Formats: sequence, structure tokens, C-alpha cells
Amino acid sequence: MATPNSNDDAPIPFEFALETNNSLIQSAPEKYDHFMASLPLTTLDHRRIRLYQGFWIPEDYLRGVLTIQDHFASRPNDLFIVSYPKSGTTWLKALIFATMTRKKYPFDQNPLLVYNPHQCIVYIDKHYSLGRSRIVEAIPSPRVLSTHIPYSILPDSITGSDCRMIYVWRDPKDVIVSLWHFAQKVYEGTPNLPSFSESFELFCEGNSYFGPIWNHIIEYWKESKRKPEKMLFLKYEDMLEEPIKYARILAKFIGCPYSEAEEKQGVIEQVVDLCSFQKLKDLEVNKRGSGTILDGHVPYAAFFRKGMVGDWRNHMTSEMAQRLDGIVAEKFKEAGLEMINMKSETTLGCLD
Ligand code: A3P
Repeated sequence: MATPNSNDDAPIPFEFALETNNSLIQSAPEKYDHFMASLPLTTLDHRRIRLYQGFWIPEDYLRGVLTIQDHFASRPNDLFIVSYPKSGTTWLKALIFATMTRKKYPFDQNPLLVYNPHQCIVYIDKHYSLGRSRIVEAIPSPRVLSTHIPYSILPDSITGSDCRMIYVWRDPKDVIVSLWHFAQKVYEGTPNLPSFSESFELFCEGNSYFGPIWNHIIEYWKESKRKPEKMLFLKYEDMLEEPIKYARILAKFIGCPYSEAEEKQGVIEQVVDLCSFQKLKDLEVNKRGSGTILDGHVPYAAFFRKGMVGDWRNHMTSEMAQRLDGIVAEKFKEAGLEMINMKSETTLGCLD
């Protein structure tokens, strides 16, 4: 990798912070164990999840969520990437990292070429669960942090701060398909994994990681309406349709808009190209590398499956699709929202 140009507005890859601050790792916090044991429990793909303040949180991350609630100290220039799992987090992480580091590294030397986007931008729920809060505190500004924590569970130190947030959401039908495939990869070889219809049923009941998904989306949507200057609310499908437009919007929102000269030189196109599904998927690190989720190993390849809109048609009958759409539409309506930018879709091409 080339020596980076000095650029103090660019984040460092989290992997660097992890390597240099290893001595700051503490043992996983145990003080919440008693409290956690008192919460409603169920299992999903063999993973224990607890109902906490209206959301099902994986038990192994709940420890981190509780630590963040009690101890997270934000900085005014922190930037949060927030999502419901499998809604396009990896892509958004890559886009933000590439945007913010575009002046620091030549495009053919960007750390994204050798590190998975999750190694570049820290997932705080996980790392706080692992006793790595002091490493997150040691990351130099500007910090880019990611979380799946629902808005109502975030501490005041974040919601009451000047930090900006970018939320990405995705058609829940494609989210459950993506989640199910991800679990198949992570727990490969484990007996009695749920079938797609079993996972779908639980998802529709709101029984999913950080679910119910509709409440997750609604809470962030409401906040984005209340404070648009603080919260950017994006949809994966829109981004896939017009990546250049959204890359431009992202850069502006995070305070590093493209200059006229950059526009002319095609810098936005280079950012989008570096972060494109195929480009990232084909990288050695993402083909053969792996990381951890708390209770297991995850091949980075599992984060790059199809990267398309509408794969739900290959997994659902039209009845299933209409059922989930109906639940989500009803919840959005109850919350005073119409289906946000959700084009009415045909179920043509479904399993039946
Ligand atoms: P599929 O499983 O439908 O293919 P997350 O990053 O939140 O875990 O979401 C994963 C989903 O985003 C997966 O969807 C994955 O293929 C897709 N994805 C990953 N990288 C992408 C990229 N660069 N562009 C578009 N989609 C991407």
C-alpha cells in the first residue's frame, strides 16, 4: 500500500486501531449477565435472542448494547452508519470509507482493496460486547461507527449529540431472503437449521435479529423527518438504481462534497466503481478472508451474495410476498407513514 497523503479528515481503517491498541482490550463485560438472564428468550438459527425494550437483540450483542447505553461517549464529529442487518450495510460502509479517504489514497491503493469494509469501519455493538470499548475510544477523529441498535435504544449521548447518522433500509422481503442465506453460510453444517418458510414465519412475527424490522425502520424514518440535517435516510433499491446520484448525496451530507474539478475528473465514478458489488466480491480478501461474529466464523464472501433487487421472487409464493408487504404497510400506516417510496410491485415470477 502507498504511503497515504496527509489528510486529517479521513478515517483510519478500524483494523489499524485494533492492531495498534491491542493492549486496551478488556475482558467482556459480565455485569449485565444477571439482568440479561431476566429478559424473554428465544432462539433463532441456534442463536439466543432476548427481547429488550421491544426489540429482539442477539444475546451475544446485547452485552455490547447495554455497555453502549451506559458508557458510550460521542464526539460531535462522529458519523454513524445504521441499518437493519442485511439491508446494505457493507456497501454503505465501503461507500463512506471510499468517499472520505479519496484524497488520502490513490484509488488503486485504497485499504478497501485489502480489507473487508467491516474491517475498515467498526461495528460497535460487537466490539463493545468483546470488551473493546477502549479501542473504539482510541480511534482518532473523525470516527465512522456502525450499529444495528434501534433508535429508541440508543443512549442520549448519541441521540442528543450533534453526530450525524446515515440509515439504509431495504425491502423487507429481500432482507429476510438475505438473512436466511447468511445464516445458512455462517452455521453451515449445523443440524436442524430452519427452512426458509420457518425463518419467514418468525420474521413476519417480528421475531428476528434487531426486529421487528418495521419498527426499526419507522423509528429512524421519524427521526430523519424531525432532523433531516442530522439523519440521512436512504433506500438500498434507490441506491442500486442511481449509485452516482447517491454517492454525491452521501459526500455532501458528510461534509466532503465533490468539487467541480473532481466531478470533471470522474472521481465519483471511481468511488462507485471501487465499491461496486462485483469489484468487492472479486477481491482476494472477500473471496477467501473471514472474520468473526461472536459465536462463529463468517467468511467475508457471505457478505456478497447477489446484490440485487427482487431475489425474494425465487423464495416466496405470491401469498407470502403479499402477507409480508401487508404487515409492513399496515405498520407504516399505523405510524402515520405511507409506504415510503415502496413501489407497488408485481408478484409475477414468484415461486407459484
Ligand atoms: P443479498 O444477500 O441479497 O445478495 P449487509 O451488508 O447489510 O449485511 O447486507 C448484505 C446484502 O448487501 C447482501 O444482499 C449483499 O449481497 C449486498 N451487498 C454487499 N455488498 C454490496 C455492494 N457493494 N453493492 C450492492 N449490494 C451489496
